Amino acid sequence: MIILGIETSCDETAISIVEAEGGLADLNFKILGSAVNSQIKIHEPYGGVVPNLAKREHQKNLPIVLEEALKKAQLDLSKIDLITVTVGPGLEPALWVGITFAEELGKKWNIPIVPANHMEGHLVSVLLHPKAKIKMMTNDVVLKDVNFQTAHLEFPVLGLLISGGHTELIFLESWLEKEKIGETQDDAVGEAFDKVARMMGLPYPGGPEISRLAEIAREKNINLETKFPRPMIHSKDLNFSFSGLKTSVLYYIKKIEKLEEKEKYEIAREFEDAVIETLVSKTKKAIEKYSPKTLIIGGGVIANKALRENFLKLKENYPELEILIPEKTLTTDNGTMIAAAGFIEYLRGKKSVGKLKAQGNLDIN
Ligand code: KG4
Ligand code: ZN
Repeated sequence: MIILGIETSCDETAISIVEAEGGLADLNFKILGSAVNSQIKIHEPYGGVVPNLAKREHQKNLPIVLEEALKKAQLDLSKIDLITVTVGPGLEPALWVGITFAEELGKKWNIPIVPANHMEGHLVSVLLHPKAKIKMMTNDVVLKDVNFQTAHLEFPVLGLLISGGHTELIFLESWLEKEKIGETQDDAVGEAFDKVARMMGLPYPGGPEISRLAEIAREKNINLETKFPRPMIHSKDLNFSFSGLKTSVLYYIKKIEKLEEKEKYEIAREFEDAVIETLVSKTKKAIEKYSPKTLIIGGGVIANKALRENFLKLKENYPELEILIPEKTLTTDNGTMIAAAGFIEYLRGKKSVGKLKAQGNLDIN
């Protein structure tokens, strides 16, 4: 079955064409063509995503991104068996653009549509492993080559989702039986990266910038003497909180008249260390409580190199545990993960659902 996945929940306009086979126990995906148009430069001056600007950009870019994805896949729309589109969670004005576009395509080409949950997309993105290089196009559209393979995993699975809007731990008995076992009580971890970066005068999105400074600090052995808190690290539950950590950084910065380069390195490293320690510690707690066979991590924040390294090191503590982290280009928002999540919804029987609705706060289910 050939699936067209459409993603417009935040600031990436993304479409991917994926060939999907198998059933829930033996999912198999092959990426035929994928295109992403990032709006980072548009939102950067505002220090965050502006919903109405995102809406306008999605409207403008969807036809272009679709054409790129089809060109890459060497297909036309008549070959698409199923359309799937993100209906939530995300920014509702942005989600509606994708939904309307999907419905128009579906009607015109008589193709069924299934809704996809963005966070389920981040969960399943780990199944797709590219084996080929990524071409950066001059018009900011990223295309991926065809040669991908599907990872097979064993349940039960523990999923850690870390993105700009979410921080949650999910326990999965199967792709259809999921339970949220922990979540942030306030800021999401990506949001904390972005806000701390802003306090330091770094550009949006802050995650990659902080990560870059923290890496230099480690190389140069630059340390901050003050320790920022590791929030809720000793609480018995599996919840997170990042707003206190963010406030500690704010108070620290406020005491300094003008931030010098070295101080930026120090702060970035200490902040990133605090985040890593917190995420790893809570994940360990969840592993011990739920004894999963596989740990999967998804969402934009797992693009972070130090975090990836620290999670892979968990293998030393749990040699039997399979640890799967998506390839870097599949960590941030993309259409491939939506096509994969949509296929699971299709297998679940959610096809031809009537009118779709944007659900900004859609939960994982
Ligand atoms: O999953 P994603 O692309 O969008 C959402 O669903 O929110 O995640 C975006 C988030 C942003 O907060 C961004 O700062 C963060 O992922 N991020 C990173 C890195 N790359 C992106 N955070 C830390 N280190 C990175 N290298
Ligand atoms: Zn996302």
